[in-house]
Amino acid sequence: MSDSLTFAVPKGRILDEALPVMARAGVVPEEAFHDKANRSLTFGTTRDDMRLIRVRAFDVATFVAHGAAQMGIVGSDVIEEFDYADLYAPVDLDIGHCHLAVAEPKEGAASVDGASHVRVATKYPNLTRRFFERQGVQAECVKLNGAMEIAPSLGLCGRIVDLVSSGQTLKENGLVETGHIIDITARLIVNRAALKTDPRVAALVEAFRRDATERKAA
Ligand code: PRP
Repeated sequence: MSDSLTFAVPKGRILDEALPVMARAGVVPEEAFHDKANRSLTFGTTRDDMRLIRVRAFDVATFVAHGAAQMGIVGSDVIEEFDYADLYAPVDLDIGHCHLAVAEPKEGAASVDGASHVRVATKYPNLTRRFFERQGVQAECVKLNGAMEIAPSLGLCGRIVDLVSSGQTLKENGLVETGHIIDITARLIVNRAALKTDPRVAALVEAFRRDATERKAA
């Protein structure tokens, strides 16, 4: 059993929804975590035996899959893109609702029907290739890490695959949604080995599960 538990949380807008859920399960960061000027990546919590790390969403999954963090919170998009064997996602937290979509320029948005090859800018090459394969289309993915919405207008690609929440970013960049890939919610993820060997991890999974069930019933 490791001495200190490490809980990984993603940077970005999901944190606002995740923090109250974490608090109900007894995971409360120290005050410094809320200070926007603080550049630390590791924070204490109200528990002596737990610290938080704040990293990019894709890296939450990587830290937990390798056991460098015992648990964390991440979108189901990241879990499905990587399909890590050592990562277990036991609780749907019912927060961070959004979906993964294909989008194309409003002017001249073409259906992929009939095309045998498309060029797509995305952070999700695996999910993208799988989605187009099911339609008999080969997707050539150009990896971007953000702001993909500008890629079609600059001629980098005909389409993008990205997260859509309110739809505002697509709209403001002249894109329309032409394919719905998967619905997404945030999940609690744990390292399988840590779950087997550290009772504190199992207890936390139970606390998150109980809270999710109670919120659903409310
Ligand atoms: C996400 C996503 C889209 C945007 C969609 O980016 O990549 O760009 O949100 O949200 P909307 O449908 O409500 O407009 P985010 O702002 O999380 O930043 P990122 O580009 O760093 O991922």
